[in-house]
Amino acid sequence: MTTNTNIASDIAEAKRRIKIFDTTLRDGEQAPGASMKPEQKIVIARQLARMGVDVIEPGFAISSPGEFQAIQHISRELQNVEICGFARCVKADIDSAVAATQDAARRRLHLFISASQIHLDFQLRKTQDQVVQMMREMVAYGKQFVDEIEFSPMDASRSSEEFLFRVVEAAIEEGATIINIPDTMGYALPEEFGPLFTRVREGVRGGDKVVYSTHCHNDLGLAVANSLAAIRHGVTQVEVSVNGVGERAGNCSLEELVMAIETRGDSMGVETGIRTEHIYETSRLVSRTMHFPIAFNKPIVGRNAFQHESGIHQDGLLKNRNTYEIMDPEAMGIPRSMIILGKHSGRHAIKHRVSEFGVSLDEKEMEELYNRFKAKADELKIVTDDVLMELVGESTDTIVQPYSLVDLQVLAGSNRSRIASVTIRSSADGEERTYTGAGDGPLEAVIHCIREAMPVDAVFEDLELHSLSTGEDATGEAVVTVSSAGKRNIGSAVHKDIILAAAKAYVAAVNGVILAVRTKEVRREAAGE
Ligand code: KIV
Ligand code: ZN
Repeated sequence: MTTNTNIASDIAEAKRRIKIFDTTLRDGEQAPGASMKPEQKIVIARQLARMGVDVIEPGFAISSPGEFQAIQHISRELQNVEICGFARCVKADIDSAVAATQDAARRRLHLFISASQIHLDFQLRKTQDQVVQMMREMVAYGKQFVDEIEFSPMDASRSSEEFLFRVVEAAIEEGATIINIPDTMGYALPEEFGPLFTRVREGVRGGDKVVYSTHCHNDLGLAVANSLAAIRHGVTQVEVSVNGVGERAGNCSLEELVMAIETRGDSMGVETGIRTEHIYETSRLVSRTMHFPIAFNKPIVGRNAFQHESGIHQDGLLKNRNTYEIMDPEAMGIPRSMIILGKHSGRHAIKHRVSEFGVSLDEKEMEELYNRFKAKADELKIVTDDVLMELVGESTDTIVQPYSLVDLQVLAGSNRSRIASVTIRSSADGEERTYTGAGDGPLEAVIHCIREAMPVDAVFEDLELHSLSTGEDATGEAVVTVSSAGKRNIGSAVHKDIILAAAKAYVAAVNGVILAVRTKEVRREAAGE
């Protein structure tokens, strides 16, 4: 039964919905070296839509014919998401943005012009009156074609409040429906940026009739904090980019903002419509496509973000996740396969990792493994899966890995195709077999050999190489991701020879696939299925 008290408490608990406006394909692509081919932008746009962003800004239509076509394609194909055309206060820009987004089911036009005195004096070389005039004409021009007009006074946080109010008021008078106040240079502090929205809403004529949005850059590492401050002051749309890519230090990171709201939304009374389980995959896709590596310690999507090296943390975590984690990585689609094992790891974590490969050890074997592990961890920074499995084999006098790499030779150079020869031992029959392969690069040649040696239905998805030390004798770490039957498996290995490290990581990843299937079968048999 619904009572008045129920209704009152439902109303009190109703959360304000924050729209996520994604600008990965526009501002994100403005990051040096991040430009993408039209077909790559389309793939990312599909993934953004799948993840549930509310608005996609797919690019700057006037900038090139390829860009125009990508925006047109995205507008036609993605009919479930609002598409935003982007333009300076210039007729040709507006015409191009309007034409490119013509077939979108829902669309808006985003117009911007600088509002700070320094931009007016040195970049636009225009007076305040001229800027207001130009903006008025162009907002009115755009409004003839598109109803929903978003206006951004660029460099707002360094503008005089008087002029900021004046341009915003004029934009509203001409028909702007969304006011996006950007911290273009990442200069604002949360305690001053948030209240600015309240002052604009209350101080500008018509200010209570429009929707407010924010767009923060991360030059001082404050983009998320400033966006949250804006939300506290009534903003209902935040402009973000995946992995925080964008001009200079980038934009407000989608995954950080969304997870801050997801984790602490009760305190703020807000929520988003993002399907968080797609976050990790989207982050990987953007990083791979733009060739932008993600810092190990990047919140949410960095590879260390949910890894626990200290024995105390690992022990606590395995007893109860909440002891040392405030979010569940699986809720963001992050594979939980990589607790980093190193010299700080305790028995509990080692046993757990080994059990993920379907191996169970008695007490004596575990003690033997632990001692070998500690000796190895002193030597290597990280005990990777392939080393761990070798140690398990030595401690138990068994061969755990379905396949192991015995030998690798590569011929690389400038004038010919690269040739590799790889010897692999199969634990099924104990035989060693040698395979040869060629490729455009030495790694490709090696991958061809291993694929032939391990006939498993697993797709080689990604290879990351990191240097774990400096100097010409540096040790390299390779992390290979393979996918099989819709599941991802990661293998890692460390060696001074990076080709060998990559080969071992690939073998470890495919071994992981085989062992996961075997473990499933054993469990099914044990359960009498
Ligand atoms: O940073 C910025 O001010 C922008 C605007 C054009 C929104 O990207
Ligand atoms: Zn920007």
